[in-house]
Amino acid sequence: MFGRKKKEAPTIDPVQKEMFENAQKRIKEKRGLFTHLVVFLVGAIGLITISQVMMQVDPMLILDIEWWIWVLFIWLLFLIYHTFKVFITNRLLGPGWEKKQYNRLVQKQQERIAELEEKVAAAHPLPEHKIMNATSDSKKVITMIAAAGANNELGKDGDLVWHLPDDFKRFKSLTTGHHIIMGRKTFESFPKPLPNRTHIILTRDKNYKTDGGIVVHDLSTALAAASSDQEPFIIGGGEIYKLGLEVADRIELTRVHGKFDVDTYFPEFDEKKWKLVRTEHHPVDEKHQYAFDFETWERVD
Ligand SMILES: NC(=O)c1ccc[n+]([C@@H]2O[C@H](COP(=O)([O-])OP(=O)(O)OC[C@H]3O[C@@H](n4cnc5c(N)ncnc54)[C@H](OP(=O)(O)O)[C@@H]3O)[C@@H](O)[C@H]2O)c1
Repeated sequence: MFGRKKKEAPTIDPVQKEMFENAQKRIKEKRGLFTHLVVFLVGAIGLITISQVMMQVDPMLILDIEWWIWVLFIWLLFLIYHTFKVFITNRLLGPGWEKKQYNRLVQKQQERIAELEEKVAAAHPLPEHKIMNATSDSKKVITMIAAAGANNELGKDGDLVWHLPDDFKRFKSLTTGHHIIMGRKTFESFPKPLPNRTHIILTRDKNYKTDGGIVVHDLSTALAAASSDQEPFIIGGGEIYKLGLEVADRIELTRVHGKFDVDTYFPEFDEKKWKLVRTEHHPVDEKHQYAFDFETWERVD
């Protein structure tokens, strides 16, 4: 479904678009600064030449020599200010910096909400089935999304063992705009956080820190952190799917038709407790080495 080294089909990602626009802006700023430097050098040579010629014509003008030095000095100050703006202010405090600050604030708030919810839950514990079933809100649906081989194979050495661009596209379209709950290992398998999704990372390490998402230490806190979302997704890996199976209402499973050498598996699930409500076949083609089916399973209560 996703992984570290796999190539995606080219799509216009909003984050890539923003990076491209920022790069264009930076090039424009640097070009402007270079032009300013050239004009300054030409201007300085011109002013020095004019002052020399004027001194030849009338040596008394030597007394007025400062005027061009002052012009050059003030100009030089403008040039230094321009350079500072391009290389320090715009680079360090530009839109990227603003966005990072904003994301950090949002993340802190969400962590605080999760913490408060955890305290409330500890002070007024609910019966076990209600804690686990955060879907007590009837419209809320917790979905596990995974791609697994014929024997439930998920991945090896922290990566996937197939490259299926259409599965990745589906994963992206289903999860964009939502909270995605994952294990620390899956989170660390991403080169960078996935755009436009709130990452909730499960770890037992109380000192674990990241700028890329909300860190939690148990599944009920993860679900509490996603409480504003009517459709949070549990995106793996193997350890977290095992936990998720107890609370999920739906499984979006891409069943990949092949057997693979892996070290991580999707948990066996009791097909009597789950109903296959939709399936869509995807054949092998030039971009997909394996055929697969998109299966939607819903819990039978
Ligand atoms: N095919 C797919 O759809 C798919 C999807 C996702 C991932 N994957 C693959 O799956 C593999 C990773 O899966 P994985 O099972 O090795 O790791 P994982 O589930 O991604 O993460 C495991 C980590 O989660 C934390 N954790 C587990 N149980 C916890 C609990 N009860 N409370 C708090 N934290 C808990 C621990 O972190 P700490 O060690 O920090 O305590 C643990 O090491 C990779 O190969 C990846 O490519 C495949």
